[in-house]
Amino acid sequence: MEIITIIFLITSSLTFSIFLKRIFFSPTHKLPPGPPRYPVVGNITWLKKNSFSDFQGVLRDLASRHGPIITLHVGSKPSIWVTDRSLAHQALVQNGAVFSDRPLALPTTKVITSNQHDIHSSVYGSLWRTLRRNLTSEILQPARVKAYAPSRKWSLEILVDLFETEQREKGHVSDALDHLRHAMFYLLALMCFGEKLRREEIREIEEAQYTMLMSYTKFSVLNIFPSVTKFLLRGKWKEFLELRKSQEDVILRYVNARSKENTGDVLCYVDTLLNLEIPTDEGEEGEKKKRKLSESEVVSLCSEFLNAATDPTATEMQWIMAIMVKYPEIQSKVYEEMKSVLAGEADDREEIKEEDLGKMSYLKAVILECLRRYPPGHYLSYHKVTHDTVLGGFLVPRQGTINFMVGEMGHICGSSSFKFFRDDMVVETLICNKYPIWSNM
Ligand code: HEM
Repeated sequence: MEIITIIFLITSSLTFSIFLKRIFFSPTHKLPPGPPRYPVVGNITWLKKNSFSDFQGVLRDLASRHGPIITLHVGSKPSIWVTDRSLAHQALVQNGAVFSDRPLALPTTKVITSNQHDIHSSVYGSLWRTLRRNLTSEILQPARVKAYAPSRKWSLEILVDLFETEQREKGHVSDALDHLRHAMFYLLALMCFGEKLRREEIREIEEAQYTMLMSYTKFSVLNIFPSVTKFLLRGKWKEFLELRKSQEDVILRYVNARSKENTGDVLCYVDTLLNLEIPTDEGEEGEKKKRKLSESEVVSLCSEFLNAATDPTATEMQWIMAIMVKYPEIQSKVYEEMKSVLAGEADDREEIKEEDLGKMSYLKAVILECLRRYPPGHYLSYHKVTHDTVLGGFLVPRQGTINFMVGEMGHICGSSSFKFFRDDMVVETLICNKYPIWSNM
């Protein structure tokens, strides 16, 4: 057969199969709706016109026009945003395995996360499972959390001291968030490195962590065409890598100190990381191989642990305190509840213990409502699906990202103010712990 005939046959059968596929397998589901999109740039021009700075406001506005699930195109890939809590529940709880993948990290994030070897950025699979299981079953399981009670007491004493010192020196307290963050950092450093660190040591780690956190924005330009920026902006790349190196130096000093001298009282996060074995790519005969974590990976995991636990908790505590200042009636009720708990005690103690918390249902309701109304983060980290799937009747493609506007969900389903916080609602908050509780007001 002549070569021309062969090429003709191949081309026509390919065209025919594409034609058949279009007819019989055309996707029945479309992407969620969204603003006008242009080739190559996607929605960037539209977003710019509608203010990049108020991204949440833009998404809120889009949701009011297009519905609870929308698509934005920044560049060629779709980015899907969900504002509805039952869709979020369907995705993250009922279909968690499909919605738990993560997108490939940007080049600077790859450095910070040791090539996606930390919990929040690892892609769905055996490493994902190993790292999560380690944190939840070794550190966050109830018996271990209980064993950290003396550490929490120590960090609370530090917090009270920070407040009292500022009050004494200035006559008022204005750095509440700083104090809350600082006290949480003492606690988390102890849970991480297994040692009560001194003030200067804490400051040093805090500084290294903070500088690295700020570098996300400062060095974001390196993520645009990295092969070009690696050449054109090599000075900036060098600065960024040096910053990471100094963070590694600081954290590894405490990791190594623990590996040399383990006092063995309460297990800390570093102990678990030094023991951990993570899966590698398959070995030559197809058998699964394991390896220890590298130093850089241990740093990334410690850094994630310190940041993930410190900032959201301190921010939320600040919100809770702000709400109690704004609504003194809520504050008085919490105070009355504390007094009633202490009144039943034989000794004249003035301090609420952790064991008393189970009796403080009003306080619990205030915390839950604050978390709903003022969550410390308004979005999640970007998720990705493991394969094309459908949510709310729309296509969620593998080639894209999906995110959930958790801050918005708390606003949509409830009252916008704490002033309606009545006793019967408190009961409702505690019983259902799912919303809306104020939808009929
Ligand atoms: C009020 C306190 C906290 C709030 C509101 C909070 C909230 C969140 C949120 C919204 C995420 C993103 C989840 C996602 O993208 O799917 C997250 C992730 C994470 N948080 Fe927290 N967090 C808090 C405290 C903590 C504490 C105390 C720890 C550790 C001891 C911690 C460790 C983590 C970790 C390791 C991740 C990554 C998990 C993953 O990707 O699956 N967080 N947190």
